Amino acid sequence: ADALKVGIAGLGTVGAAVVQLLSKHGGQIATKTGQAVTVTAVSARDRTRDRGIDVSAFEWFTDPVEMARTADVDIFVELIGGDNGPAEESVRAALARGIHVVTANKALLARHGVELAVLAEANDACLNYEAAVAGGIPIVKTLRESMASNDISRIYGILNGTCNYILTRMEAEGISFQDCLSDAQRLGYAEADPTFDIEGNDTAHKLAILTSLAFGTEISSDDIYVEGITSITTADIQAADELGFRIKLLGVAQRTDTGIEQRVHPTMVPKSSAIARIDGVLNAVAVDGDFVGEIVLVGPGAGGNATASSVVADLADIARGDETPVLGMPAAELNSYQRARMRLH
Ligand code: NDP
Ligand code: HSE
Repeated sequence: ADALKVGIAGLGTVGAAVVQLLSKHGGQIATKTGQAVTVTAVSARDRTRDRGIDVSAFEWFTDPVEMARTADVDIFVELIGGDNGPAEESVRAALARGIHVVTANKALLARHGVELAVLAEANDACLNYEAAVAGGIPIVKTLRESMASNDISRIYGILNGTCNYILTRMEAEGISFQDCLSDAQRLGYAEADPTFDIEGNDTAHKLAILTSLAFGTEISSDDIYVEGITSITTADIQAADELGFRIKLLGVAQRTDTGIEQRVHPTMVPKSSAIARIDGVLNAVAVDGDFVGEIVLVGPGAGGNATASSVVADLADIARGDETPVLGMPAAELNSYQRARMRLH
């Protein structure tokens, strides 16, 4: 079969790593999936910027929306960021043409996921987003595929690499919050606007996606209680330590008698617990299923290479011909079923 042609919109931390990964592992992906995947078009604002990759062979677009509307591609990869503007417009334009979309953009999905799912389904396009939750951890595939056999009662975890990196270094090295945040930005972990990380919104966006996958609810972050880590001091961390606890920013969604409770806040966790030992940029996601019991997935939650690993896994699914429906179930069912089904609080 002809190679699948891929356009990558956004060549920052993640986009540049995706180009590098495909250049290194393109051959094995073709062997494993039965179809080659090749980058033919790219988009970013500044053509002169050194990104550590050779873009000379690709068609260049300064405007990602123009790329989505006109480029000869089979898959559009959105790695720009933001829940509106060029990210939203380009994804809508690609889906409207029936072009498959792969995105790492949890803010966009948390705000417009349902409409985008409906648009994707109406145009027979995939909308894949493994990288949007917990970076390199394959939690979306786990929930869609492996956990489809279970009734899930709770899902929780450390879902933001930047916050976990900050809390870990504040505790271990006594470094100031601001210095830790600057390092997280330099390492490419933080969002373009890092208040999304430290105020807990990024965790809430990811939790909204997990909740939708785990409980079949309409994706929305509006009803999530959100508290970030900006008020946590070194003294708080030391006080917790003396009591036998560590402070972690957790996202929690659990089934209750009245609906699905969702919350994001700093939490004291006993040092003896597995979650207390998740350090630095690592994330962890725990899922309670009625037949399997609790499973815990751990891995890098942010960073170019780890996130590229998930983005390219989504490309490989499309190359393999996996037509798993968007957001865990067909959007047509989602309209009648998910919207009415559960009250979130
Ligand atoms: P960066 O800020 O590093 O890169 C963003 C890219 O988008 C840049 O190439 C930039 O162009 C381009 N861009 C930004 N704004 C515009 C615009 N208005 N018009 C055209 N192009 C634009 O972001 P990341 O790579 O870190 O993140 C990308 C996405 O992946 C985001 O949705 C993020 O939330 C998500 N993500 C990031 C992770 C990480 O660890 N960094 C992990 C998981 C998900 P230029 O380079 O010319 O400025
Ligand atoms: N800024 C995010 C984080 C990127 O630190 O977890 C991964 O989604």
